[in-house]
Amino acid sequence: MEEIYKRIELGLRNHVIGKQIYHYKKLKSTQLLAISLAENNIKNEEGTVILADQQDEGRGRGKKKWSSPIGGLWMSLIIKPRIEFTKFNMISVISAISVCESINRISKLKTSIRWPNDVLFNNKKLAGILIDSSINNSNHDYVVIGIGINIDTDISKINLSNASNSILSRKVTSIQNEIKGRAIDRFMLMKQILEKIEFYLSLLEYDKYNSIIIGIYKQLFDTLGKKIIVYQDGLKKYNATVKDIDTYGGLILERDDNSLEKIYSGQISIRENN
Ligand code: BTN
Repeated sequence: MEEIYKRIELGLRNHVIGKQIYHYKKLKSTQLLAISLAENNIKNEEGTVILADQQDEGRGRGKKKWSSPIGGLWMSLIIKPRIEFTKFNMISVISAISVCESINRISKLKTSIRWPNDVLFNNKKLAGILIDSSINNSNHDYVVIGIGINIDTDISKINLSNASNSILSRKVTSIQNEIKGRAIDRFMLMKQILEKIEFYLSLLEYDKYNSIIIGIYKQLFDTLGKKIIVYQDGLKKYNATVKDIDTYGGLILERDDNSLEKIYSGQISIRENN
């Protein structure tokens, strides 16, 4: 199996997320380990968090690699959300909000979200989120939220794949690169994120909070009104303009032939002529 880990405590106010945190020096991928724990459900893994100082085979969205040298926050958390299927996309929404708000709070950087869940500062990618799930309406359902944040990573070492998920601009940055000098406590940032995710997840159980959550997402969202290209399986599908976000975080698009389209996943890139 994998290398040695240390169990850590962050003094979280949470009931579930982070009840056990396994901290590894090095892993192939926190996401892969979290998925295998959730699949095997050896113990009750709900709320388990896997953290690694570095990953050899970090994974990004769209089967891309995610460079994960020392200096970043690389973690995956296992959740078992008790929400209707229609709301599952909201897990991506609340994860993005939580990461964005936590970075803003800890570093004072005003980051924004690029659909679906890239976190950017000045158009440069600072953090990425990867959601893997197995949902069959059974007790074995799980969602793994993988979060990668460039904190004090040497950005010259970060493979450009970290930036190229959904957007043409292939730029990456790190918190330290933007704030210069001030130290960022990785564990404080992690604590903030885990508390926020638990908080927003609890709101998802009530329909009345959905529009509030989407309202927060929209305020942080930087893709509204933009002209984009939509891809499927890596191939260009059509051009469109981003009109709005729907109740569950889907992107409402107007294609260049004026027809309307709604997408919840996939890849987009911003067109140059915005
Ligand atoms: C993206 O492509 O934007 C998503 C990147 C997600 C990276 C994180 S780092 C922790 C977790 N483990 C992985 O292998 N990937 C995710």
